[in-house]
Amino acid sequence: MVEVQIIGTGSYLPERVLTNEEISKVVETDDEWIRSRTGIGERRISTGENTSDIAAKAAFAALENADLTPEEIDLIIVATATPDCYTPATACIVQNIIGAKNAVCFDISAACSGFIYGLNIAEQFLRGGSMKNALVIGAETLSKILDWNDRGTCVLFGDGAGAAVVKAGKEKGILANHMGSDGRGSNLLKCNAAPVEINNPILRKEVLGDRVTGSTGYLFMEGKEIFKFAVKVMEETIEKLLEKAKLNIDDIDYIIPHQANLRIIDYTIKKLNIDKEKFYVNLQNYGNTSGGSIPIALDEMNKKGLLRKGQNILMVGFGGGLTWGGTLVKWSK
Ligand code: UT7
Repeated sequence: MVEVQIIGTGSYLPERVLTNEEISKVVETDDEWIRSRTGIGERRISTGENTSDIAAKAAFAALENADLTPEEIDLIIVATATPDCYTPATACIVQNIIGAKNAVCFDISAACSGFIYGLNIAEQFLRGGSMKNALVIGAETLSKILDWNDRGTCVLFGDGAGAAVVKAGKEKGILANHMGSDGRGSNLLKCNAAPVEINNPILRKEVLGDRVTGSTGYLFMEGKEIFKFAVKVMEETIEKLLEKAKLNIDDIDYIIPHQANLRIIDYTIKKLNIDKEKFYVNLQNYGNTSGGSIPIALDEMNKKGLLRKGQNILMVGFGGGLTWGGTLVKWSK
């Protein structure tokens, strides 16, 4: 039986810190509102690096931590809602930067659940036996799609990337996974691509006349609806993972939740009556980095020496799509 282990982690955060005070000079908000409603104190913002640049830096760090060379990687998955281009995949650009010439590369679009989806997809390839080592990256430059006039969203998000190297082996690693999607909520958190009718000079006049229509979008979110959805699926996903792995909550050493809003995490802690200390939270420093949030937190914990061999680590996320998912891992490094 093939088992799949996480053998390395890495992350990269752009250097530029953007504080709540700075944002309050752009939109009508203040540090008190942002901290009390979300827990966020500051975030990192790209000053020109694109998603592939920060993804590649996280990837290099993860490879070093895993003690693997780029050539040993068979698969690169980049989970991102903010790719460099429509095509090629950001994963192919990363492949070129890091020199992983033997890898198959593609992106997945699952918003903030993207890293979990990526991990679970990589797991299937590795369990199938056709590949040995995979690099799963969650990377975002959300600052490029934020509407900096919308105080309901621009205060929440940040840029950053995290990565994990996963390997097929004999020792137990991933114990359970769970994923779900509900497209009925696809309008609740979205960012439009280029509008279809605007780009064609032959049909533009015929279809639109003098009407001006939408442009390539900014991120839009129905915050309250996402909040309600988030607390529901966080609880359900944790319970599902425990059930699938035949464990109970006392067997879990750490929970790494998607870092969206401290109130969502606190709600889950209360609802499931879980020890607060088990939840790793770093959103005060980085805001919501969407696909980057869970792998950045995982790498931070790894660097701090919090992760020990044999521990059970539960990762759980939710996001646009709607999508949600989790992975329960026995730490094997
Ligand atoms: O990765 C998935 C991503 N998304 C999420 O996880 C988001 C989930 N939702 C949330 O985190 C929360 O709904 C928000 C943080 C987005 C909003 O918090 P809320 O407690 O639901 O606030 P609200 O939308 O009900 O707004 C309350 C008030 C409104 O003013 P009025 O209508 O009561 O006068 C807003 O206009 O707060 C106002 N408001 C702000 N005030 C100062 C909204 N954003 C801000 C702001 N600064 N940045």
